[in-house]
Amino acid sequence: MNDALQQQILIAEHPQKKNDPSNGSGAVDERDREKRMAKVTMTVNGKSVSGEVEGRTLLSSFLREGLGLTGTHVGCDTSQCGACVVHVDGVAAKACSVLAMDVAGSTVTTIEAMHNPDGSLGVVQQAFQDHHGLQCGFCTPGMVMTAAALLAETPKPTEHEVRHALEGNICRCTGYHNIVKAVMAASGQPVSAE
Ligand code: FES
Ligand code: FES
Repeated sequence: MNDALQQQILIAEHPQKKNDPSNGSGAVDERDREKRMAKVTMTVNGKSVSGEVEGRTLLSSFLREGLGLTGTHVGCDTSQCGACVVHVDGVAAKACSVLAMDVAGSTVTTIEAMHNPDGSLGVVQQAFQDHHGLQCGFCTPGMVMTAAALLAETPKPTEHEVRHALEGNICRCTGYHNIVKAVMAASGQPVSAE
């Protein structure tokens, strides 16, 4: 992030909703639109940010399009895949299922803040690399964020607990076995050779 993040950020319209038939004619009166805009302020990756958003603006859109934090991926936009998981006040949340307005005042952490202070990979990220927990990498930000939230709450999870925590995260490359190994390794526990 840079200082631009401190400036007002205008998200005019969530692009996935542009052609949504449920929006009626789509010819939204500009004055009505302005009425529905509201300023939100939150802390993202340690910095206070604020922006003007519509009531329907998703947190994922605010992060990606408003703040340029494209590490938060959007795979489905319907709360199915988990690619968009971030932390809201320390709890893993699917950013495509949260309205930006609803997290005003909250602390949000994204994958961009998961590295170590010196810029090297964080412990979960390093474990994913060491244990080949990613292939195409599309699901990886969400996997890492979900895993980090699990480990913050349960530092030494069982493999069953890891699999349970990752239930809401889909890997289209089906690399689940190595993902679970990576999370176990990140917890400092032994990892099977297989
Ligand atoms: S993009 Fe949020 S769950 Fe798929
Ligand atoms: S590594 Fe490709 S979707 Fe998971």
